[in-house]
Amino acid sequence: MSLSTLSPAACSVVQPLLPVVGARTRVPLATGGEAVYANLDNAASAPALQTVADRVARVLPHYASVHRGAGYLSRTTTALFEQAREQVGAFVRARPDDVVVFTRSTTDALDLLSRAVPAGAEVLVADVEHHANLLPWQRSARTTVVRGGTDAEETTALLEAGLATGRYAVLAVAGASNVTGEVLPLRRLARAAHAAGARIAVDGAQLLPHRRVDVAADEIDWIALSGHKLYAPFGSGALVGRRDWLDAAEPYLAGGGATLDVSHDAVRWAQGPDRHEAGSPNVVGAVALAQACATLSALPAGALEAHETALRDRLVAGLTALDGVAVVRPHPGDAVGVVTFTVPGQEVSKVAAYLSAEHGIGVRDGRFCAHRFANSLGLVEGGLRASTGVGTGTADVDRLLAAVEQFLTSGPELEYGIVDGHWGPLHDLRPAPERFLDSTREPG
Ligand code: ALA
Repeated sequence: MSLSTLSPAACSVVQPLLPVVGARTRVPLATGGEAVYANLDNAASAPALQTVADRVARVLPHYASVHRGAGYLSRTTTALFEQAREQVGAFVRARPDDVVVFTRSTTDALDLLSRAVPAGAEVLVADVEHHANLLPWQRSARTTVVRGGTDAEETTALLEAGLATGRYAVLAVAGASNVTGEVLPLRRLARAAHAAGARIAVDGAQLLPHRRVDVAADEIDWIALSGHKLYAPFGSGALVGRRDWLDAAEPYLAGGGATLDVSHDAVRWAQGPDRHEAGSPNVVGAVALAQACATLSALPAGALEAHETALRDRLVAGLTALDGVAVVRPHPGDAVGVVTFTVPGQEVSKVAAYLSAEHGIGVRDGRFCAHRFANSLGLVEGGLRASTGVGTGTADVDRLLAAVEQFLTSGPELEYGIVDGHWGPLHDLRPAPERFLDSTREPG
């Protein structure tokens, strides 16, 4: 494959859109030597934005007890935490009366919401979801999981048909698939849900790193997000949306901070976000998440989409042009920078191990915590997923394409087998990962 065979759109050269921490980190190769790490696994966890790392470094010397102390830094920390709440709400353009609850992750946020659904309410979800937006709902017998369609349009139509029965109180749906990258039409689904008397809960984990969402204009009732996918890997996520069900629900965690008063025989619980944030909250994580939101918000309109569309087009075109590669459901419509492929006849984990060991490229292999969807796409043995982020440039994509082409034409240089339970080179010159940092210079 030569890049000259790609379409003009796929030929455009793009640089990383924003600086991320670790963009120049070098990793050892199993063949000897080293390479700058090509991180094509942003859909699992994205690196920290430089602005996020800078903000965390700036805030840490001022960090003190939150919500509890009278000291000046305690009050500063409390103010930072509450400002972070406002910034996250503003990022998704929440309504003024919406609540922003800080959680550990999207999984945590959706788990919280699934427990706040009124008793007896029925939930509709499609099997295209990753586990975070499937398993919390599936715990209830009142959840119906419909088979997704062969594309986002068909899945949308199936969900609309389900809603039209009038049975459901909640539609839970991902903004973008973590397997195919397909983006679902949220405003259309929200309108269908509301017309049927239901509410819509959106898993924004894969969408928000790539697209601006307007909760108010799109009529979304709740959206969940994760800092670790949004360039703020400091252990924070959030649930943003309507407060009535959350105020009426049992507190998610029982403990300090969630109460107004505790006596011998009664506990009066707080309302609003405090109700579900018992324990000392993750202030640093919240501040990091808010900074990521602010940095992404400051990008010119359309910049994120243009950057990743060029990279995605290049990935899809380049992989499709390789004889011996199958791209899984390359989506012609709106899609984020997530491309899944296989090398038929080859174990996906072996290919992933080769990309890491001989080229310093990180991708994800397996079924991407979306087993039902992966199975329905024929990926029972798993796939390889390349996913881009704001720190990705054409050079990363081209390294992957060249490495896969080399695998197909010349085969790997090393011999591979199962080592310590995982595919890997049988002779590996790299230090054990758990000792790598001890042997690494500080990045220059
Ligand atoms: N949902 C995460 C992923 O897609 C875990 O990798």
